[in-house]
Amino acid sequence: MKILFVTSELAGLVKVGGLADVSAALPRALEQVAHDEVRVLLPGYPGVLAGLRDAAPIAELPGLADIPPARLLGGRGADGQQLFVIDCAPLYDRPGTPYGDLAGADWADNDVRFARLAFAAAQIAHGLPEFDWQPDLMHVHDWPAALAPGYLAWQDGARPIPSVTTIHNLAHQGLFPAHRLGALGVPEAAFAVDGSEFHGQLGFLKTGLYYANEVTTVSPSYAEEIATPQLGCGLHGLLGGLRDAGRLTGIVNGVDPAWNPRNDPYLVRRFDARSRDAKQRNAQAVRHSLGLAHRPAPLFSLIARMVWQKGVDLVIDACETLVRAGGQLAVMGAGDASLERRMHALSQRHPGSVAVKIGYEEAMAHKVFAASDFFLMPSRFEPCGLTQMYAQRFGALPIARETGGLRDTIDDGITGFLFPDSSVRSLLGAVRRALLMFNFRPGMNQMQREAMRRDFGWDRPAQEYHRVYQRAQAACRTSARHE
Ligand code: ADP
Ligand code: GLC
Repeated sequence: MKILFVTSELAGLVKVGGLADVSAALPRALEQVAHDEVRVLLPGYPGVLAGLRDAAPIAELPGLADIPPARLLGGRGADGQQLFVIDCAPLYDRPGTPYGDLAGADWADNDVRFARLAFAAAQIAHGLPEFDWQPDLMHVHDWPAALAPGYLAWQDGARPIPSVTTIHNLAHQGLFPAHRLGALGVPEAAFAVDGSEFHGQLGFLKTGLYYANEVTTVSPSYAEEIATPQLGCGLHGLLGGLRDAGRLTGIVNGVDPAWNPRNDPYLVRRFDARSRDAKQRNAQAVRHSLGLAHRPAPLFSLIARMVWQKGVDLVIDACETLVRAGGQLAVMGAGDASLERRMHALSQRHPGSVAVKIGYEEAMAHKVFAASDFFLMPSRFEPCGLTQMYAQRFGALPIARETGGLRDTIDDGITGFLFPDSSVRSLLGAVRRALLMFNFRPGMNQMQREAMRRDFGWDRPAQEYHRVYQRAQAACRTSARHE
């Protein structure tokens, strides 16, 4: 099957979180396991244009309403992945992240920036002049790409093309004022409960959920949770309906083979499940570079976007007790300024025991996973989460809130420690269990072995996505016949 994979992040070129990792790994797995041919479409941010290999113009894409025209480039990513990139300097040529400026504020024209992405996807799907590649199916990811199934549906008389929308995080829905409809070329008739409207606003993600033939999210537990009022973010009605109709599927993410301590180029000493003692050498190196005291203390770590979702504040509140119990803590992350400040203050209060690195550093993340005994992930909600899987691969036992993908990827008492509620008390309960295990060497060894041997490959998820694609194709054929 030929797949157009539409995303706003791609590891190696532009990354904010796990969406980038998935966008890099899943297309490769689909090609290898399901023999799909996948091309990835993404906006031409400066880093993407700079990293695009063998770039060549494919077509001039006309604009629509306030969406400016753009040039579509073809090319390859670092690992040879076939890419489509939208070259549109007025929208994408600026410093900052894909979503906002260097100070963290969202770009004011994000509606047009991502409508451009989605409309380009529909244009490619409907066929470009003098370019003979057309997808059999479009797979869009999160709100930035989610207007695309709408643009497909709103094109009169065009060939129906099946589409799949994947939710990586329901908390971000891409909501914009209703008066922007015209500017984005969204038909008035689509602004309805059965369509793109969400409580009086235009919902990008809502559009993707409503118009796609199939919807997926990144773990079976999260698929259940988002069909409830607690975690449904106002969309639980629609999502519950999709689930009951068998059109909402939870598929756990995999781990890219690059996350493997046996051949990780960033580690001072590589290791596997049989040579775990080498973790000590990595811990020594990390203690040295982060300024932690050299002592045989249990090393806890936290690597995450510093946001409410990740429960970073719970770690801050639990830190005193953790340090008093003899633990050390290494933190890496960037995000909310107030959480960053509070974390920084902790490192000042506990020199030698708590080290905090504000920022984003790929190499250091690998080193910290390899060095850690335990990895903290007290997320309030977690669609899937990748870091708890990376941690297990590196023999760092996750201590995580029992929610979403964390529930689906950690075996409590076997490969990690799960705790039930979003409270410091509950987190500390799991920390105590972890410390007991740390002091019972045979048990700790056994858990680390189990964690490192767990299969987090992409093969099974890729097969599941392929089955979803087949269902979407069948549904699209059926609905075309009924029109
Ligand atoms: P989310 O997408 O919600 O942020 P995931 O666990 O799915 O959570 O993915 C997070 C990704 O970002 C992982 O690849 C993780 O290693 C990486 N990451 C997060 N914070 C940092 C950081 N400060 N430095 C390096 N990598 C980070
Ligand atoms: C989102 C979620 C995270 C998930 C990632 C990749 O960022 O917050 O849980 O792992 O997407 O699917």
